[in-house]
Amino acid sequence: MSDRNLNLVISEAARKLEKVGIEAGAAEAELILCDLLDCTRLHLFLQGSMLLNDALMEKFNAIVEKRLTRYPLQYILGSSWFFGRKFKVNEAVMVPCPETEILMDSVLRSARFCPSTPVKILDIGTGSGVLALTLKLENPELDITAVDISEEALAVARENAARFKIESNVRLCRSDLFAAIAGDEKFDIIASNPPYITIGDYEGLPPEVKADPQVSLLAGDQGLDVIERILTEAPDYLNVPGYLIFEVGDNQAEGIFEIVDQDKRYSDCLLIKDLADIDRIVLCKVK
Ligand SMILES: C[S@@+](CC[C@H](N)C(=O)[O-])C[C@H]1O[C@@H](n2cnc3c(N)ncnc32)[C@H](O)[C@@H]1O
Repeated sequence: MSDRNLNLVISEAARKLEKVGIEAGAAEAELILCDLLDCTRLHLFLQGSMLLNDALMEKFNAIVEKRLTRYPLQYILGSSWFFGRKFKVNEAVMVPCPETEILMDSVLRSARFCPSTPVKILDIGTGSGVLALTLKLENPELDITAVDISEEALAVARENAARFKIESNVRLCRSDLFAAIAGDEKFDIIASNPPYITIGDYEGLPPEVKADPQVSLLAGDQGLDVIERILTEAPDYLNVPGYLIFEVGDNQAEGIFEIVDQDKRYSDCLLIKDLADIDRIVLCKVK
């Protein structure tokens, strides 16, 4: 048994992590311990004086050492939390962001306004599958299709679907946006967390974000290459009424609002803010 209790281990690791620029050092140390001990943060809090055995200390220290290089914790642990569930992640997929939970919430709410039975949803750029699979798990009545251009990402999404035992209930396929969708297929909602980083902003991103696959981040000079293609093609694949709901980067929402405003196929456009008060989700309705 080591002479280190949980509280001491957390505070020592937090100090080291913060020194290399990881702001949430304590929270990350706790996440590592929760993963190793397979417990909740509440359990850590209640067991603060518990001593850690040597084998566990060794594993913990190895993870902290790797994290000190600014390699993302989620890739080290091989998992990431989304909407209260643990998903497998690896370097083939973007680490899910908390903002995407707002996208998730907006899609679930919008589904309640769709008259079709079942409500059909297309997730473009599914990555690890967090959005598509969570939608199905939250509301099994939804008919979900999810596409991604990356076969490696789809392999992760398929593993996650199998983990949650819904592999035969969600359609996952490789597609460059709508390319593999039949021309006459219609959805009630098209949802996406597309790549939206500008080439200029890429270099200045934190190392953790730059570890994500470039295909999940980069979208041309203005960061709008993929979003503009989705806006152009989506109305052909939407029922009326139907919704296109997608996540955008800082400072992109207003420009996109103007593009949608000019396109008479869309009747309404709504911007939804994230917890930092930044316009993060664009919700467009087709007439
Ligand atoms: C920002 S990530 C989002 C991943 C996941 N939906 C999430 O929210 O965590 C964007 C995803 O879009 C995919 N992607 C990029 N270009 C695409 C395209 N032309 N067609 C389909 N998927 C694309 C990437 O492979 C990546 O998985």
